[in-house]
Amino acid sequence: MPRKPILAANWKMNLGRDEEAIAFLRKIRRGLNEIEGLDLVLCPPFTVLYAIAALLGRTRIALGAQDAHWEPGGAHTGEISTAMLARLCQYVILGHSERRATRSELESDPAINRKVQAALGHGLTPILCVGENLEQNRAGRTDEIVSGQVKAALAGVAPKQAERCILAYEPIWAIGTGEAATPADANRVIGLSVRGALAELYGEDTALAVRVQYGGSVTVENIPGFMAMPEVDGALVGGASIRPDFVDLARAAAAARS
Ligand code: 13P
Repeated sequence: MPRKPILAANWKMNLGRDEEAIAFLRKIRRGLNEIEGLDLVLCPPFTVLYAIAALLGRTRIALGAQDAHWEPGGAHTGEISTAMLARLCQYVILGHSERRATRSELESDPAINRKVQAALGHGLTPILCVGENLEQNRAGRTDEIVSGQVKAALAGVAPKQAERCILAYEPIWAIGTGEAATPADANRVIGLSVRGALAELYGEDTALAVRVQYGGSVTVENIPGFMAMPEVDGALVGGASIRPDFVDLARAAAAARS
């Protein structure tokens, strides 16, 4: 079965007030909804999830959150659980490098593993982010870092559950820098390190079934190059996803596959 491409928009800490989020969504909603052959996910800040959910109701655009805590509830001031998100969203980004970098305890490999298990347990689809930093890249440690993150995050996750996950290879040095990986490099790391780790954990069939995105300085100009790569099943887009021409980016992504 060919893997259906999936494009996800990570709004990060932007468009967090109802008025601005709704105004932006009204600009892109119809255009996005007309695009075929691609799964689409918007991941706005928590504060506007309800407002956006209400406007996505009759579209084929899915909703995701940008993080979640693994505990279902309790004394965790400021946290949001996968259980709380489950009724509202279909997806949740987990292990984003912007969080891994600054929150050692809540974003350690074991913590991310607990988040993945909790999300799957509540019927959410994790968008699990992995990627090496510049130093690791220059030291030739990309494969070791990326495959290690994949294996740690999926420890104890059953093959059928793992197949539901979306993985996103986001080299940290490419995020928000304007310096994307080359499509060939993204393709190589996803094939070798991401699918390689999945194959070690689950065997070839599962490794070939899981959808893996590329993320890091994706633009309307460079998306066709990534989509042309056989290992790349879509993109996780940051900065370019909060501009009205995100619709053009999504169209270009779909066209590159049709
Ligand atoms: P940019 O597209 O802004 O580089 O961000 C990528 C990212 O972090 C998506 O999760």
